[in-house]
Amino acid sequence: MNRRSRKRRSRSLGDLVPLLAALVTAAVVVVVGLFVLGSGSDADARAMLEAEFDGAYPAFPTPSGNVVEVDVSAAPATIEVVEGLDTQVWAFNGVVPGEVHRVTLGDTFRMNFRNELPVETTVHWHGVRVPNAMDGVPGITQPAIQPGESFTYEFTPPDAGTFFYHSHVNSTEQVERGLYGTLVVEDAESVGYSQDVVMVMDDWSLTPTGAIDTDFNNPTDVSHNGRWGSVITVNGEDEAQLTARPGERVRLRFVNASVARPYALRFVNPPAQVIAIDGMYVREPRSADATLISPGARVDVDITMPDTPGTFEIVEDFSTRAVRLVTVVVDGGPVDTPDFAAPRNGRIPEWVEAVDVDVDIEYKLALTGSRWTINGDSFPIFEAEQIEPDVFTKVRFTNNSIRLHPMHLHGQFFQVLARNGEPVNDGAFRDSVLLFKDDVVDVGLVALDAGMWAMHCHILEHAAGGMMTFLEVAAREPVEASS
Ligand code: C2O
Ligand code: CU
Repeated sequence: MNRRSRKRRSRSLGDLVPLLAALVTAAVVVVVGLFVLGSGSDADARAMLEAEFDGAYPAFPTPSGNVVEVDVSAAPATIEVVEGLDTQVWAFNGVVPGEVHRVTLGDTFRMNFRNELPVETTVHWHGVRVPNAMDGVPGITQPAIQPGESFTYEFTPPDAGTFFYHSHVNSTEQVERGLYGTLVVEDAESVGYSQDVVMVMDDWSLTPTGAIDTDFNNPTDVSHNGRWGSVITVNGEDEAQLTARPGERVRLRFVNASVARPYALRFVNPPAQVIAIDGMYVREPRSADATLISPGARVDVDITMPDTPGTFEIVEDFSTRAVRLVTVVVDGGPVDTPDFAAPRNGRIPEWVEAVDVDVDIEYKLALTGSRWTINGDSFPIFEAEQIEPDVFTKVRFTNNSIRLHPMHLHGQFFQVLARNGEPVNDGAFRDSVLLFKDDVVDVGLVALDAGMWAMHCHILEHAAGGMMTFLEVAAREPVEASS
């Protein structure tokens, strides 16, 4: 790997206001900020945006002392994707998707991982704010785990929500072959849904005999929108069904495990609400109809079953042809619908003033010959930008191509601020954002966790074609870390 000179970014903020210490002065800063903004000081606006971030989500985990420990191996396995046909896959503990690991907020999760594949691998915890050394990026956060070797992943997730784990080595092949699963971090107090169901979506490119097409990274997929399979499964089933009783209120956790295909969910009847995006509760639940889920993304949906038996379908129609994802069978005696306010995170900042703040980092995305480039570099050549923790940072993605790019940042959450110059009141923290042809999207974040964090397109063929770089978050001053 060839890392070129690293850019150091100098900040105008001088003595950086630590996020937590800003708490007391937050109200004053907001009031003062409103008056000084007219005269347009970038530093004042930033201080205000940082103050708004305070309490948006916990800066650090609070371990309860409870440890959830699992033993997982990655190994070849045989499953049935299409009825009557055997498909050889690479799987975590023999199943695709890999098991749903459930922990409760505060638990420490420990995975004793063993590589029984013929090739090296790692596990990446997509969306989880893990310590950098647990992030599973080969050559940067850990050496790849060799065949026959083991590695222990251990961390205390700071956020409750729906997360995605997957191989981060040669992922166009390894994720396609089945190396992915779901990590659910439950709220410390149960929310009260009748059922809580994970729905992992994938699309498969199979030969007529059911084998996985091994034409990984073919140049057409790399230069277009990646590899799209023709068999779509939910939880490994191409005829997925969910059974519920009339009146049940169900939490559906959708995970997009496809390497390239986005899904647009349709919930027409009964209506449904999105309560979380990329694991994090949204500010206000919103209609789930036409919800986009780009590769690697998660969306949690709150849906109440009709009060009479029957069936309905959950459909995806990102491409022109609508595809049934799940048939919901509503059957049995009715239950009283649990009555509670859908979970939300009212602390998500509005960051309205961010439209006036200068962009700190711009990532220009382009196809250069047959390689994807970010600011002219094609991975493994990259320049890591460096940012400070606890400082509002504005990042612009400029898509100088006609392809889709779900841009994903490891280890941090960001909020969309503007799309093509139009302010967006996103009300959600995300770990990826989907760019369409020629889009210019601004996002804002306050980085919390130090380390080298991968930033790449989650159309994994684009990442393999060079569309990957790193964002380095500097360590806090020791005195701040001990507080
Ligand atoms: Cu889900 Cu670096 O990826
Ligand atoms: Cu892309």
